[in-house]
This record gives sequence, C-alpha cells and structure tokens, in this order.
Amino acid sequence: MTDPTAEPSPTQLLERERERFEAELADAVDEAAIYQVQVRFLGKKGSVTQLRKLMAKASPEERKQLGQAFNETKDAMESAMEARRKQLEDQVRELELSRRVDLSLCPSPRQPGSLHPITATRRRLERVFHRLGFDVFDGPHVEAEDYNFDKLNIEAGHPARDMQDTFFVLPPGAKRGDEPSNFVLRTHTSPVQVRTMLTHRPPIKMVAPGTVFRRDDDPTHSPMFNQIEGLYVDRGVTMADLKATLYNFVSAFFGAGLQVRFRPSYFPFVEPGAEFDVQCPFCREAGQGTQISRGCSVCKQTGWIELGGAGMVHPAVFEHCGIDPEIYTGWAFGFGIDRMAMLRYGVPDLKLFFNGDLRFLEQFPC
Ligand code: FA5
Repeated sequence: MTDPTAEPSPTQLLERERERFEAELADAVDEAAIYQVQVRFLGKKGSVTQLRKLMAKASPEERKQLGQAFNETKDAMESAMEARRKQLEDQVRELELSRRVDLSLCPSPRQPGSLHPITATRRRLERVFHRLGFDVFDGPHVEAEDYNFDKLNIEAGHPARDMQDTFFVLPPGAKRGDEPSNFVLRTHTSPVQVRTMLTHRPPIKMVAPGTVFRRDDDPTHSPMFNQIEGLYVDRGVTMADLKATLYNFVSAFFGAGLQVRFRPSYFPFVEPGAEFDVQCPFCREAGQGTQISRGCSVCKQTGWIELGGAGMVHPAVFEHCGIDPEIYTGWAFGFGIDRMAMLRYGVPDLKLFFNGDLRFLEQFPC
C-alpha cells in the first residue's frame, strides 16, 4: 500500500505531467496552440524540464531509471505533438477537399446601360449631316452676351431678346443683386455660327448640336433643351441649297416620303427667314400620289410639326464676323433636337426625356 501523505515520487510527478500534457494537446486545435503546449511542458521553463532537475537528488541507480523515464516521456510527447499536427493538417485538407465549388451557379446577368434617347438622336443627326458633308462643331454652354445676341444682330433692347428669356450668369466672386454680367447660359446654338465664322474662312459647312437654356416651362417647352445649328457659307450659296439639304436631311433622318414646307418667319440674324416644318408622321395617311397628314393631338390638328428656324445669313452678321457679304452668301438653320426625338420615338411629352424615370428610359435600348 502506498502512503497517501507521502510526497509523490518523480515518476508519479512525471506521470501526472504526461496526463496533463495529453489533455492539453487534445484541446490544441492549431499549430500555435501545439507550440504553446510544447513550451509549457518541454520548454526551458516547462514543467517536465523542471522535473528533470529532481534527478540531481536521486541515487545513481534511480537516476538511471529516471533518466530513461524522462527520455521516454519526452520522446512520447514529441511524437504525440507530431501526430496531433498531422491530424490537424489532415482535417484541414479533408475540409478543403470536401468544399464543392458549384460551377453551375450563374452570376447575375449584367445590366448593360443604354444611350439616352436624346443622345442617340443627337448622334444620329451628327451621322446624317456628316454624310451630307458637314463638320461637327461644339460651343460653350456659358456664352458671351455679345456672341449669343449682339453679333447675331440682336442688340440690347431688341424685342427679339424677349423671345428668348435668358439666364444671366454672375462672374466669379459676384453676389446676388450685383449688376448682371455679360455672360449668359446660351439661349440657342446660333452663337456657334459666330464662333465658327470668327475663326474659319469660307467655305464653311458645319453643324453644332448642343444643350441650350431658356426661362421656359410648359408641356412643349423645357428650361433646358437641345438644338442643332447648321451653317453653310461659300460663294454663290442660295436658298435652293438650303431647301435641297433639308429635304435630303429629312428623308435620311425620318425616312423617305415625308413632306416638308417653309413658312416665312423673322429671325434678326437671317434674311429672308423661315420656319421649317415636316409633315406629322403620326397622322399621315398614304394618299394617291402624295401623302397627307389629317391632323392629330401631336401636331395640334395642323398636320405639320415645326422643327425650327432657317434662312440666309444676314449681311450684318457676316460683317460682325469679318466675312465680306459682297463675296460670300450662306444659310443657317437651328432645329430642336428634343422635338425630333419626340417625333422619332413617338413620345408625346417633352418632360418624359428629362425627369430621369428609368421605366421610361429603359424602353430605348439603343
Ligand atoms: C432659334 O433658336 C434660332 N436660333 C433658330 C435659327 C437658327 C433660325 C438659324 C434661323 C437660323 P427658335 O427660338 O424658334 O429659334 O428655336 C428653334 C427650335 O428650338 C424650335 O422650333 C423648337 O423646336 C426648339 N425649342 C425652342 N424653345 C424650346 C424649349 N423651351 N423647349 C424645347 N424646345 C424648344
């Protein structure tokens, strides 16, 4: 029988440490935890290493036995740790192998964007006029009052300024209530005529599409809209060229067979001036020989839709831009792009283009 009050022998202590070691190793779930166990038992200050020091007090006979026991314990612990490492590695590997990659899972389909119908219309216009021999020019949205009005024969106080209610732009640093500046958000694309004639010598054949701004707001008038300007200047250019070009343009853009007409009109920068109308495509009926439009809500029962103004460039405008009106003649036009988009897509309300409703815009996957 062993005496329960007696001090435990080194062999017993070693046995206890071995049991503790096995329990802690079983709880170690990764390399770092196994290393901690190793340090706690076999490290410099580890419990088993400390026990070994007891050997010094043992008799030479016991020391031999104990030495053997320590070595066996140490070897057994090291093999146990190695086995635990391998076991954990195998578990990780098994987990990785069991993880199935589901190749059948389709990614959610990409939703390609589309061009805004006004942009698509504008690009189509550019292509059509490019084929008719026109260069495409651009101009700034914030424009000098001089280019937007004065050089186009609309001097300060001219009643034609009232027809284009204007946003004046304050210069940098100015405050509300300060005197209006000489810059405006351009009210039409016609100032690009001025810019072009000031920088290019005839022959000039260009179109300039872009956004313009007016203090307008009703179902057919938006404060921000788009126009395309056309300008052709050379020796001997006549109204007949204008008509031929616009007829060609209408059949290329809307399709052959649509009637067009000019109505006399007034714009200070052309003389003579005209409004240009196309037959309403929504209510046209194929008649015998000619096609007629009976009238509908889109064309306000007239059978015609106004695209914009046109005419022969006024000699005073040529003079303001340094071109000799005795040598050159030319014509210009300015049409509403948004109105052409309404016609092309059959959209009855201009506002639909600008209020950003995706349910509307997604109907134009172009
Ligand atoms: C002009 O702006 C002239 N610069 C056109 C021109 C150019 C005439 C060259 C002669 C020679 P008008 O103000 O009529 O003209 O505008 C032309 C077209 O722009 C109109 O027929 C219409 O289609 C469109 N438009 C005008 N105001 C608006 C608006 N608020 N919203 C949408 N479209 C508009």
